[in-house]
Amino acid sequence: MIIRKALPQDAQGIGYVHYHAWLETYTGLIDSEYLKTLSVQRSTKIFESTACRDVFVAVEDGKIVGFCGYCKAHDEDLPDDCGEIHGIYILKAHQKGGAGRKLLDSALSELKLNGFKNAALWVLDTNKNAIDFYEHSGFVFDGAEKEEIFVTPIKEKRYVKKL
Ligand SMILES: CC(C)(COP(=O)(O)OP(=O)(O)OC[C@H]1O[C@@H](n2cnc3c(N)ncnc32)[C@H](O)[C@@H]1OP(=O)(O)O)[C@@H](O)C(=O)NCCC(=O)NCCS
Repeated sequence: MIIRKALPQDAQGIGYVHYHAWLETYTGLIDSEYLKTLSVQRSTKIFESTACRDVFVAVEDGKIVGFCGYCKAHDEDLPDDCGEIHGIYILKAHQKGGAGRKLLDSALSELKLNGFKNAALWVLDTNKNAIDFYEHSGFVFDGAEKEEIFVTPIKEKRYVKKL
């Protein structure tokens, strides 16, 4: 498996993973009416709009099977030197093989290289698999919670880690 920075031409490959991993992860956790509004095309547009900047991809046999996106943290209550992991998704068939670890480490190293001292992320409070992975990776719940509406309300929790 190769881990590399994404290129603008990866938008469709990342969009494919984003769409399918969302269905695999959130079916049963997020309202199905919301999930029905998603598509590969819609996911691809998200990454086209940023030319796939600040994303690492995991590639196996020439195909993108996972990605991790990072940025400066959005939350106003976090310091300027806090970065954010805004999405890490691996196709189910390729999970538990080390891709998540390598992608997360690559994104955190890049944030550190760019001067960030901490990293934050938001996770759905019922996404136990991801929470366990983040806790195993040294992230801790910092007490911040928020509600968002995905047809019906969902609750997210914020986790942070020192870099
Ligand atoms: C969460 C996710 C990114 C983990 O990626 P992965 O490729 O399955 O994980 P890896 O095989 O790289 O495992 C990395 C490490 O975490 C550990 N780990 C992985 N999943 C774990 C879990 N559910 N509980 C505890 N530890 C876990 C592994 O044992 C491994 O430990 P090590 O590095 O000490 O050997 C992946 O399962 C995924 O894409 N899930 C669906 C999407 C999702 O929920 N994303 C988060 C949205 S906020």
